Amino acid sequence: MSLESIALKILHHMDPERAHELVIRALQRGLFPRPRKVVDERLHTSCCGLHFANPLGLAAGFDKNGRAVPALWALGFSFVEVGTVTPLAQPGNPPPRLFRLKEDEAIINRMGFNGEGQAVVRRRLLRAVKHPGRGVLGVNIGANKTSRDRVADYALGARCFADVADYLAINISSPNTPGLRDLQGAEALARLLAGVKEALREKNRPDLPVLVKIAPDMDDIALAEIVETAVEGGAAGLIVSNTTIARPETLKSPLKAESGGLSGKPLFMPSTRMLARAYVLAKGRLKLIGCGGVHDAQTAWEKIRAGADLVQLFTAFVYRGPALIAEILQGLLDRLEQAGLDGISQVVGTGAADWLQG
Ligand SMILES: Cc1cc2nc3c(=O)[nH]c(=O)nc-3n(C[C@H](O)[C@H](O)[C@H](O)COP(=O)(O)O)c2cc1C
Repeated sequence: MSLESIALKILHHMDPERAHELVIRALQRGLFPRPRKVVDERLHTSCCGLHFANPLGLAAGFDKNGRAVPALWALGFSFVEVGTVTPLAQPGNPPPRLFRLKEDEAIINRMGFNGEGQAVVRRRLLRAVKHPGRGVLGVNIGANKTSRDRVADYALGARCFADVADYLAINISSPNTPGLRDLQGAEALARLLAGVKEALREKNRPDLPVLVKIAPDMDDIALAEIVETAVEGGAAGLIVSNTTIARPETLKSPLKAESGGLSGKPLFMPSTRMLARAYVLAKGRLKLIGCGGVHDAQTAWEKIRAGADLVQLFTAFVYRGPALIAEILQGLLDRLEQAGLDGISQVVGTGAADWLQG
């Protein structure tokens, strides 16, 4: 048994939130395994005017406060999305609020945007981007729970991170801040995007890519409305998707009754179907980041086939550890070779129709 799998076993026996804090601290101090890195030109991709060494990134919520960004790049993620960051620090929901559904390789969380707030995170990120091995940095912004003007909170986030982020993710899909998902409605989203764009113009970063992160729990009509509003509002793309409030019948873990957002393997099918639907609706007008249940090379490949320019994961990283990154990237290269293709971007959307029929 490798040192890495022993460490994972120990972490999985600990309280999930304590284990997470330990991992972040270890990463901050450089105490992490150096897995084999898969570097290959065929994995390079461009998206929203940014260059990515490979299509795999770490989703928001793992490093909410930007404490371990250089270490996460060093593990092989080409991009790391920090956050969700709210304007002011806030404690989030009372613990316990993080549950591992081991039998399902899933997580339920109701963290509720616990975080240190914009000012602290900004200071850390200004240091992180000076790191020589830097990758792409996304900053995911949100609203404080007690904010009187949630739309204004996103403009504050845009102002704060305009000069340090490579892209902004607008999180309007967390199920753990009451009412937040209402911002996915066309009118609210249009107002929100206008506020963010205005803030970016003020900061002389009018072209900073803005991606809207959406929930998997909506019908085709609501999705079509979001796609059109995002295009009209000048968003560069969508992140599909956040966690789900649904509880599939197949869940085995007794923890399935906990409230919050479900992530991991059971989210793969619904979030990938939605991604394919978004790809077809967007007709090339939006870039798409596929997120939800990616846990091996095949599921990453399927996200790209369904329409993702880039792929993110979170839950599988918790279960499988850093070795998963090289496993996925090597598997993508093998699949490119089998398909006789010489670049990952050639795969994007080639299976969207299959996903919508299946
Ligand atoms: C513990 C936990 C905390 C999360 N926090 C955030 C967050 O702050 N902001 C956000 O946009 N998404 C958050 N997410 C959602 C993830 O970014 C991702 O969209 C979701 O987990 C699906 O991907 P996965 O199945 O690979 O985990 C969180 C997920 C988990 C498991």
